[in-house]
Amino acid sequence: MSVLWRILSYLRPYRRTLLSGYVALLLSVAAQLAIPRLVEVAIDRGIAGQQKHVVLAASAALVLAGIAQGLLTFARSYSFQALAENIAYRLRRELYEHLERLSFSFFDQAYTGQLMARATEDVNAIRRFFWVVPRIAVQSLGTLVAVSVMLFLMNWRLAALSLSVLPLLALATVHFSQKARHLFLEVQQQFGVMTTVLQENLAGARIVRAFAREDAERARFDTELHTLQQRSLRAARWSSLYTAVVTTLGALGIVAVVWYGGRQVLAGHLSIGQLTAFYFLLVLTTQPIRMLGWMVSSTARAIASGQRVFEVLDLRPEILSPPNGIDASGIRGAVEFRSVSFRYPESGTASLHDITFAAEPGQRIALFGPTGSGKSTLVALIPRFYDVTEGTVLIDGVDVRAYDLHSLRRRVGLVLQDTLLFSVSIRENIAFGRPDASEEEIIEAARAAQAHDFIMDLPFGYDTVVGERGISLSGGQKQRIAIARALLMDPRILVLDEATSSVDAETDRLIQQALQRLMEGRTAFIIAHRILTLQNADLILVLENGRLVERGTHEELLARGGLYARQYARQAQEQVPLRSAGD
Ligand SMILES: Nc1ncnc2c1ncn2[C@@H]1O[C@H](COP(=O)(O)OP(=O)(O)O)[C@@H](O)[C@H]1O
Ligand SMILES: [Mg+2]
Repeated sequence: MSVLWRILSYLRPYRRTLLSGYVALLLSVAAQLAIPRLVEVAIDRGIAGQQKHVVLAASAALVLAGIAQGLLTFARSYSFQALAENIAYRLRRELYEHLERLSFSFFDQAYTGQLMARATEDVNAIRRFFWVVPRIAVQSLGTLVAVSVMLFLMNWRLAALSLSVLPLLALATVHFSQKARHLFLEVQQQFGVMTTVLQENLAGARIVRAFAREDAERARFDTELHTLQQRSLRAARWSSLYTAVVTTLGALGIVAVVWYGGRQVLAGHLSIGQLTAFYFLLVLTTQPIRMLGWMVSSTARAIASGQRVFEVLDLRPEILSPPNGIDASGIRGAVEFRSVSFRYPESGTASLHDITFAAEPGQRIALFGPTGSGKSTLVALIPRFYDVTEGTVLIDGVDVRAYDLHSLRRRVGLVLQDTLLFSVSIRENIAFGRPDASEEEIIEAARAAQAHDFIMDLPFGYDTVVGERGISLSGGQKQRIAIARALLMDPRILVLDEATSSVDAETDRLIQQALQRLMEGRTAFIIAHRILTLQNADLILVLENGRLVERGTHEELLARGGLYARQYARQAQEQVPLRSAGD
């Protein structure tokens, strides 16, 4: 029930739309009822009474009533649809804004498809609810009450008997709505599973084809689709059963009229005309009763969907900006880790153990270690993508958790291994973090990132839309856009996480030049596999299984003869045959 109340609370800002919908509904019913009355006047008094002016007046009134009915129908129909569309808009925006606030740990576990299903199909179910239920509820209940009153006034015994099915109907409705809510929840859940498979296959279309997995993937999709169909059919069987029960109960009411009413007529307590009128009035209740069934299943569906939408909206972001957080825009960029340990929320083991080091403003810190040793995890703690489990991360001697989150993240620039470009123009992609940047600043950043020349070669230069009309950029080009994007933010602290691992040597050289510029005067964290890229660092931290096992400059680490020195020897060996082959 509370879910339903919460859904209904979305009506609050639209009370006026709802009210105008109801007013239009009432007036259009009135106009509808006025028309036969006007016809009656025109015939009885105008035509039969031979009075031309009455016919004329009645005709004019009919025209007005017709126009009024048309306008009112428009107003009514539009009001309820506007209500539904506005609420759907608000829900989707709220969902999106909430998803933006949720922490990284949420996205580590959430399935994109499930989230998409909630933002599309579940919101749609709520939209349909608002479209039909507020209107039908008033219309049907109004008719039901009005007709019942009329029936009781005509013959209360007969009315009581023929309407005695209503409590049974209420019972069936309650029972059905509980069952239906459960069934519809299963349907929506499966819809999310199917969307996830679909989304994975669309995003991974290349992989699927490259591994010739089309058949297997089709089978997987088919399985989920089939389950969805089965569950939808089960829900459909229940709603059909409910409709059948409702119809049967309605028929029982008619039986009461024939049986009890017939006996009343035979006994002379009721005229045949009265019985006929009674019957026709009773028939008027069947439509609203059937509508009731539809309303109940729409409501059950909306509740199931609301549950799924509110589940997301109720998740609290784990990482919040502190109240009155310190503004980070003036930081110098000293970074310190004090006995930092970190475990991912869903993981059983810690990914970082007791890490301690300090970086002065403007220093270059290199992180080196095998895959999975914790390098990316370590740098993710600086802009608070995650919070430490133990210890403290400090910037300029202040715990990162004390800074205003937005201002902190704005001062930390990131260039990651694979860059995501949005399907907007190159200009907007570069200005992603600073939409207010001037044209000069954007071009300057692109030049510094060695990207300006290739951008000018694109069909529409900076206005070229990424991904449109087959325009796609190579890995190296995307990387340079990402560097320009980071440059434009002018961050104090820069993180390069394997920023050049996936590009060829020539591109790597260009990017290295761009990066040199990017790093000037900033505290930089560089993660790379090629020791060549790291050897000029002020401090090299060597990680293994989440522990800091060695630290020092390139020379110090070579002299130490540990993990770093062994890797260096191996990479140097690999370089030799490569070079001679190139000569
Ligand atoms: N989002 C995550 N959730 C749970 N565990 C993770 C997550 N990301 C990385 N890990 C685990 O943390 C450890 C360190 O990973 P990572 O920092 O990515 O290493 P590296 O960047 O050095 O390759 C690994 O054991 C990895 O499996
Ligand atoms: Mg990594």
